[in-house]
Amino acid sequence: MLKLFSCLLDYLMSKKIIEKNSHNLIGKDIISLDQFSPEEIKEILYTAKKLKPLRDLAKPSKILSGKIISLLFYEPSTRTFSSFTSAAQQLGAGIIPIQNAASSSSVIKGESLKDTILTLECFSDIIVLRHPENGSANEAAAVADIPIINAGDGTNEHPTQTLLDMYTIFEETGRLTNLTGVCAGDMLNGRTVKSLIKGLSLFKGNTVYLLSSEKLRIARRELHALSASGIKLIEISTEEEIPKNADFWYWTRVQKERFTNLKEYKKHKNTLVLTPRLIENYAGKKTIFMHPLPRVDEIDVSVDNDPRAVYMHKQMRNGVYVRMALLALVTGKKV
Ligand code: CP
Repeated sequence: MLKLFSCLLDYLMSKKIIEKNSHNLIGKDIISLDQFSPEEIKEILYTAKKLKPLRDLAKPSKILSGKIISLLFYEPSTRTFSSFTSAAQQLGAGIIPIQNAASSSSVIKGESLKDTILTLECFSDIIVLRHPENGSANEAAAVADIPIINAGDGTNEHPTQTLLDMYTIFEETGRLTNLTGVCAGDMLNGRTVKSLIKGLSLFKGNTVYLLSSEKLRIARRELHALSASGIKLIEISTEEEIPKNADFWYWTRVQKERFTNLKEYKKHKNTLVLTPRLIENYAGKKTIFMHPLPRVDEIDVSVDNDPRAVYMHKQMRNGVYVRMALLALVTGKKV
């Protein structure tokens, strides 16, 4: 499969599809999957693949030497924060790490998002922002003169997660077209599924089944907007409706932090659990099992040992390669 991935990317290079776009991302904000062309997505994935050996072999690199990346996180994070940290440091950049911004920075004294962004732009070359409000990344980009990378804004989008998800899908299946996927869990509040649908809608022939309880279905307005982009979306509410032999299952957590009523959260949290029985009944031999993580109880831990489960190792590691690529491309560094 890896060989196929390399061949496809080499083909794209030979057609100069990627070179033609190689300056498109310099100085750009990374806010939404809406902003990308298919060629730009391929360029990011190709660059990630090129940079992968640096991390795998822990080879020192000076690609981002002299650059400083601010990591401004108002919401908790393990993966996004640490993989951006790893990506920046692997490429020789310095970091300004701010976790729990609401309690550990001058935000606690009442400083606005705008003023915090204007402050960090005095000290750094890129700001990676996670924030609980939908649209906050756009708000930051409107005031900043340096690139803003959206590391998750409320229930809206998580573009860098999607880029690593697409890298994973491409690496594992060999394509980004004519895919059948199942996204399950909290379609209403989860931002990763919305970004993933947008990303897959840039490529032809993709179908995504959205498996959730009625209450956690994607908002109607969002569903109509996403469907208008050409991707086929099919909402389902029972396991019996899962298509056999899908290319990927993308399981997600019910987002406790978005519920105002804890009883309501508890009612929904374990209604869709990925188990060996479910796999036995509905998955194909080549179906891959993905999850953006963190997982709570929605994947039985015994599934971790299934060779088709990619969430715990491959998918997470791909996050570093893709974030290395983004940092390099946005700063215009030659890879
Ligand atoms: N997938 C993801 O965004 O994980 P974190 O919340 O740990 O960053």
